[in-house]
Amino acid sequence: MTSDTSNNAENAATMGVGTPQDCAAAPATLFVCITCRMSLEPGVSATMTTDGRELFDLVGLLHNTHPAADQVMVRSVECLGSCDQGCTAGIGAPGKFAYLLGGLEPTREHAAAILDCALLLGQQSGSVLGRLQRPPLLRNRLLGRMPPLPLSNPRNTAP
Ligand code: FES
Repeated sequence: MTSDTSNNAENAATMGVGTPQDCAAAPATLFVCITCRMSLEPGVSATMTTDGRELFDLVGLLHNTHPAADQVMVRSVECLGSCDQGCTAGIGAPGKFAYLLGGLEPTREHAAAILDCALLLGQQSGSVLGRLQRPPLLRNRLLGRMPPLPLSNPRNTAP
């Protein structure tokens, strides 16, 4: 599948870096990797602002003024293990499949799409967020998904 790059090794990952967008009772959580870089070309300084950080900041701006902001918690995370897939984000909600999204860009359009996707997951009654339910921009950016935890039904599968 994917491989991590040395500058953002998985063993250095820190989950759950706090953000001002904290909403304790939010039904969904959106994780945005703040260490993703679109390019590892020579000349790109490791100290430069990352593309992932830019995406996270854009999500934060949208979240701060979103009418349903209390429905999703936004968290930064250092590495989601898909470092060669552009910017990455993950969404999850209790009792629902978790989704890993990649090929994202630090744009307002992509920030809005992943925020909307997390809101959709949290608000829907089913556990699976189908391809056509996702915002169009994200329909071909799914890297993986995992069933809800705990696995109350060992045959927990999705269509
Ligand atoms: S740096 Fe590894 S997924 Fe973002």
